[in-house]
Amino acid sequence: MKAAIIATTLLALAAPLAAAVNPKTYGPVAAFKDSWISVAPIESAKTHGSEPVLKASTEKFALLGFTLPSEATQAPNRLLSCELTLPPFNTPVPPLNITLQVAVANTWDEATVNGDNRPGLLGDEFTFYVEDTKQPIKIDATEQCKIAAGKGTGFSLFVGSPKAPYEFKSRETGMGATLVATVSSWA
Ligand SMILES: *[C@@H]1O[C@H](CO)[C@@H](O)[C@H](O)[C@H]1NC(C)=O
Repeated sequence: MKAAIIATTLLALAAPLAAAVNPKTYGPVAAFKDSWISVAPIESAKTHGSEPVLKASTEKFALLGFTLPSEATQAPNRLLSCELTLPPFNTPVPPLNITLQVAVANTWDEATVNGDNRPGLLGDEFTFYVEDTKQPIKIDATEQCKIAAGKGTGFSLFVGSPKAPYEFKSRETGMGATLVATVSSWA
């Protein structure tokens, strides 16, 4: 009798918890827009949105735009995780650090965005060590996604390089960056 009461109590506690964390995964979804921008004065007015490559260096930043699940933009705390995958780099590069920084606005257009009109930055710059640039590069971008979801919009981010330049395929090739987002499905 006593055991039965305890079991019922545990079930009652466990049920709402299970509903709260029961995850729903979206993706992989491709970036719906991407470009790269240069902040070098002589280059900053150029647009690169339709090119097959994205570039990063000390002066160049790839810019990716993803849609987030509506659950995450309506209730940011429902976002459980985000995994960003960049395609392998086009030329062999030794292990290096790449940087990610969330863009404050998700309204940029890949046809017109350039170094002069680029969106501003939100939150910290994050550094990720990439061991093998010949394989798809998987990055836990949960924290960056949460920053974006907190604004109630999509997820735009700059991908940079503090040191060595690198290039990777843009969405125009059909083999560009992708995102997997997992949200909790509250009943
Ligand atoms: C990557 O960044 C870390 C931390 O800033 C640093 O210790 C390391 O030397 C860097 N590695 C490369 C290959 O630049």
